[in-house]
Amino acid sequence: MTKKIIGIIGCGAIGSALAEYASKNMTGSLERIIFFDIDPDKATSLMKKVAISETASSKKEVIDRAHLVIETATKKIVPELLKTIIEKKKDLIVLSIGGLLGCEDLIEEARKKNIRIILPSGAISGIDALKASKIAGLESVTLTTRKAPKSIKGAPYLEENGIDVDALTEETVVFEGNAREAMEGFPKNVNVSALLSIAGLGAEKTKVKIVISPDYTKNIHEIEIISKAGSVTTKVQNIPSPSNPKTSYLAALAAITALENYFDSIRIGT
Ligand SMILES: NC(=O)c1ccc[n+]([C@@H]2O[C@H](COP(=O)([O-])OP(=O)(O)OC[C@H]3O[C@@H](n4cnc5c(N)ncnc54)[C@H](O)[C@@H]3O)[C@@H](O)[C@H]2O)c1
Repeated sequence: MTKKIIGIIGCGAIGSALAEYASKNMTGSLERIIFFDIDPDKATSLMKKVAISETASSKKEVIDRAHLVIETATKKIVPELLKTIIEKKKDLIVLSIGGLLGCEDLIEEARKKNIRIILPSGAISGIDALKASKIAGLESVTLTTRKAPKSIKGAPYLEENGIDVDALTEETVVFEGNAREAMEGFPKNVNVSALLSIAGLGAEKTKVKIVISPDYTKNIHEIEIISKAGSVTTKVQNIPSPSNPKTSYLAALAAITALENYFDSIRIGT
């Protein structure tokens, strides 16, 4: 296989973990890693830590030069990025999956044009079972997310509804609704609900509940899938990333695994 150039847009918790791992463990597949961050200092300081890397001055430069672009920035840039990726016939791994809600037509266009768009499992388990269950017929998909106050602070829904998570003294349900509403209210916290929507019943029908407690030390995601093939329940208890408590460590590891799969001809799991 010819070595590939990968571009990482967003040099925070996930982008950094991915780049540091890839530069040490995927040298057989990688020619170069190109970084872009809206904050140039972040891209430069990551470049200094990572071999075979350099920085770019724009997203456009990253897309022009890379074979595979990895988005680890913010959901806001995803629709435009997806459009450009399709136009330039590049491959894309998306982590800010909430940004793909409403982009169903573009995803279909990518599929028709044979453009590879990869959505890692992120901070959850069970996407394999969800996809398989969908073939039999899904009846319901429910996500219950439990987080500590520091892992959810600043979310627009909390501010709009005057909820001070630091004042909570016990386990409290702060949100119940569908995945579209969850992604609007908690754009940085429940990307997993968008992933479940895209893989399953869509954002209107995927149910989401968010529970906060000062006693939680992990980001916990429980998923219940009911289908004509039976029922599946999964629970992951994630250690938050040290550099970004909103992000689970497992999400960075899932991004690494997605990149390993990209280079591997053997596919394990559905
Ligand atoms: N799929 C999942 O399960 C999952 C899990 C956790 C986080 N996420 C999402 O992945 C993304 C990255 O997460 P993270 O923990 O690394 O976040 P982070 O905040 O640690 O890093 C994000 C980086 O992107 C940069 N950035 C912001 N806007 C940008 C823009 N317009 N262009 C270029 N760079 C920009 C920031 O400066 C920052 O360095 C977030 O959108 C997050 O919500 C997804």
